[in-house]
Amino acid sequence: LKSMQGRSFLKEADFTPAQIKALIDFSIKLKAEKQQTGKVTKYLHDKDLILLFQKTSTRTRLSFELGGDDLGANTAYIDPTSSQFGKKESVADSARVFGELADGIEYRGFSQKNMEIMAEHAGVPVWNGLSNEWHPTQMIADFMTIKENFGHLKGLTLTFVGDGRNNMANSLLVTGSMLGVNVHIVAPNSLQPDSKIQKLAANFAKKSGAQLVITSNIETGVKNSNIIYTDVWVSMGKTNWQERIKLLSPYQVNMKMMQATGTPDEQLIFMHCLPAFHDGNISTAAEAVKKYNLKSPEMEVTDEVFKSKFGRQFSEAGNRKHSIMAIMAATLGDLTLYTEH
Ligand code: CP
Ligand code: NVA
Repeated sequence: LKSMQGRSFLKEADFTPAQIKALIDFSIKLKAEKQQTGKVTKYLHDKDLILLFQKTSTRTRLSFELGGDDLGANTAYIDPTSSQFGKKESVADSARVFGELADGIEYRGFSQKNMEIMAEHAGVPVWNGLSNEWHPTQMIADFMTIKENFGHLKGLTLTFVGDGRNNMANSLLVTGSMLGVNVHIVAPNSLQPDSKIQKLAANFAKKSGAQLVITSNIETGVKNSNIIYTDVWVSMGKTNWQERIKLLSPYQVNMKMMQATGTPDEQLIFMHCLPAFHDGNISTAAEAVKKYNLKSPEMEVTDEVFKSKFGRQFSEAGNRKHSIMAIMAATLGDLTLYTEH
């Protein structure tokens, strides 16, 4: 853990596979500490944190706020519209100001370039709370959830179905490759991962032994999966519903797809980073149904799978807090307080 002190976490490859594993195990330890004693060590006592969001958020914001509280820090939230950030002041100047005012910065934004500018000029650790390209804090929670479920990671097969070019697909492909988890990306040809990202993942996979499959074929793609993972068809900041519904409807996660894995029920789970469109009660989904004359408000996953025994999306969401605490404590916390148990 000490090797991460003072560091930013802008993308998974900023850390080594050993460091990513250490973060997952630290998350599990913090969760147990909280469950057993009702509190956690104040690794961030009196630290000041800025939580900057250029896109909306539920889980990530709450995890940084509540996790920061648990660790003894003070947090200040900046919403997507009401500060000078991104409009009246350059990212570099804002970063300098944040670095003067605080000890750590969570940043949810658009381009990865701005994430890098933030880290370069802030002079304090910056944690990427989601960019168009990566969602690294989500990865620690996701692989923590998988480890809790299966007891180990190496050799499992995670299949991401849907928009294979979004932040979640990129992050799962690279992180799985780092950890020896086989990753299948099942997506239409035009939505398969960028070749740069495929190359990065392939390099990690060579060392970890992970098998990578990128295919548009659902049947071969989902075969032997332990985890079926999906995400929204239209990510934040985009509005191309019509095109995406047409392209991705065949890739909806339903019970037929779960069965096509051929995996015994007790070795199979469903995951989703959330928020999910599986239900007509979601206003955006209901609007899309009306506008595009759809038969059902279920998009990337059916209500049946979402609510089935396979679903792990809610414990996954809960694990965001423990894993974000681990990331903050490892990079900014007082690790002299760390004890083995
Ligand atoms: N999974 C995730 O990042 O959720 P939020 O957008 O609610 O933070
Ligand atoms: N791909 C989604 C992830 C949300 C957590 C988005 O960027 O909107």
